Amino acid sequence: LLSVLQAQLDTLLQEEAAINYNCSLTGEALDGGNKAVILQTHKDVGERLSDLASQGLPLQPEENDQLDLMMEIEGLRKSIHNLGTIVTTNAVASQTEVSGDGLEQCVVGQLATVIISTRDKSGGLCKTGNAIISAEVCTPGGSVADGEIVDLKNGTYEFQYTVKKEGNFSLALRLYDQHIKGSPFQLKVTTNSPGSRSRQKGVRRGGSLFSTPKKKVNPIEDDLIFRIGTKGRNKGEFTNLQGVAACSEGKILIADSNNQCVQIFSNTGEFHSRFGVRGRSPGQLQRPTGVAVHPNGDIIIADYDNKWVSIFSSEGKYKAKLGSGRLMGPKGVSVDQNGHVIVVDNKACTVFIFQPSGKLVTKFGSRGNGDRQFAGPHFAAVNNNNEIIITDFHNHSVKVFNADGEFLLKFGSNGEGNGQFNAPTGVAVDVNGNIIVADWGNSRIQVFDGSGSFLSYINTAADPLYGPQGLALTSDGHVVVADSGNHCFKVYRYLQ
Ligand SMILES: *[C@@H]1O[C@H](CO)[C@@H](O)[C@H](O)[C@H]1NC(C)=O
Ligand SMILES: *[C@@H]1O[C@H](CO)[C@@H](O)[C@H](O)[C@H]1NC(C)=O
Ligand SMILES: *[C@@H]1O[C@H](CO)[C@@H](O)[C@H](O)[C@H]1NC(C)=O
Ligand SMILES: *[C@@H]1O[C@H](CO)[C@@H](O)[C@H](O)[C@H]1NC(C)=O
Repeated sequence: LLSVLQAQLDTLLQEEAAINYNCSLTGEALDGGNKAVILQTHKDVGERLSDLASQGLPLQPEENDQLDLMMEIEGLRKSIHNLGTIVTTNAVASQTEVSGDGLEQCVVGQLATVIISTRDKSGGLCKTGNAIISAEVCTPGGSVADGEIVDLKNGTYEFQYTVKKEGNFSLALRLYDQHIKGSPFQLKVTTNSPGSRSRQKGVRRGGSLFSTPKKKVNPIEDDLIFRIGTKGRNKGEFTNLQGVAACSEGKILIADSNNQCVQIFSNTGEFHSRFGVRGRSPGQLQRPTGVAVHPNGDIIIADYDNKWVSIFSSEGKYKAKLGSGRLMGPKGVSVDQNGHVIVVDNKACTVFIFQPSGKLVTKFGSRGNGDRQFAGPHFAAVNNNNEIIITDFHNHSVKVFNADGEFLLKFGSNGEGNGQFNAPTGVAVDVNGNIIVADWGNSRIQVFDGSGSFLSYINTAADPLYGPQGLALTSDGHVVVADSGNHCFKVYRYLQ
């Protein structure tokens, strides 16, 4: 425990030293009054800061690690309290692996088994028992299983359980009150023999979860079709790309935020064109974060820093702006079935609906954690019923409203399990009403049905995402996502 904390402290101290070093460099440059040095420093530091500000994410996993650690201490305290003797284990939930048939399916009334292999912070197998593990098979209504955790005293535990009734349930496994990697799992309980049924389609999980060598429950599948781009300022290169749109004419549009432009590609990834001039006047772009295509072909761009939404023709000719003087920080845009422009104002925590003329139709939302409130909304999508789907970044949830802004449903909570989020960003809806969400802090994409039930991940094992932002569905039915931290966009197949 001490060595883990020490390592973390060392890392933090190193980072502090680097920041101090750069601060004093900047200070010296400013004091010295050498204009050339100031200019040089200004550029470097400015770029670093804007990159840090817009990405921020890479730090997130480290924070999570630290949280794990706190929980571990909590668990220890509990052990000490309960047993009156000091019991230690270095098992952490985020590394611990689970396997066994009982994870996916079982038969009513028959004993099922799940094997839990505890691992420490760096992924090494734990060799001793005594960790506090809990398991729960439940519906929203409550628990539906009897079972117990058996401590094999060598770091491995078995959860043996029997379910009372047929149905689709959630199986939650926690170590020191924290979800074990991949938890909660989706469990299908049948009355037939499980062997006679084909495996449920659409339930995919990360391959690393099931790394028991003799039996791969879910082999690594890779849904990636291609990726385009590297960090840079030229055509086909990106600097902190954010929003993504796709249009029926087979085009993919990317809001290349720190390059102040929009780049357009074909569905197969060929560069087509780009437009955008940096600036703060109408027709110029300062920080394009959201992009959408109107059914009439116009390209709609949310400009976070100019605090308005710009409309360009399909050829990139400036036409008009809307929301000026009203919007505080527009991040995502979408277009509803009436051709209205949906704008997600991240700073104001409000969703605005405009006519393309700029006339306000309605608005809803304020800052908060209530159903009709937002704690940092990012992107919007509209489904076939003209319902509006909003990602709420700091509430770690997705909220659905009707066209009048009445709350319909929400799903998601903070965590790493199936259906949980660590700051959701991009969102899109397919023709079947399935909702696809970029899970920024967990660097993954999740697919839900229209009622918010988790269906699958879009797998990224071979070439992982790093802080995904906007996403959209291409006209040929693939998912295109802005892989912001990797400065590229990626196209995936899904639910196949
Ligand atoms: C500070 O500057 C050094 C040298 O340019 C660089 O390696 C380091 O990453 C910088 N650190 C931060 C926090 O910007
Ligand atoms: C732990 O003990 C069980 C039962 O004795 C055994 O089957 C299993 O292989 C052991 N696991 C490890 C990792 O040693
Ligand atoms: C469980 O989910 C599957 C689809 O995922 C569905 O076909 C089946 O009817 C569901 N079973 C119950 C009992 O709800
Ligand atoms: C999200 O909002 C719900 C209420 O709708 C609240 O219970 C929950 O604590 C919020 N989550 C976070 C992480 O703020």
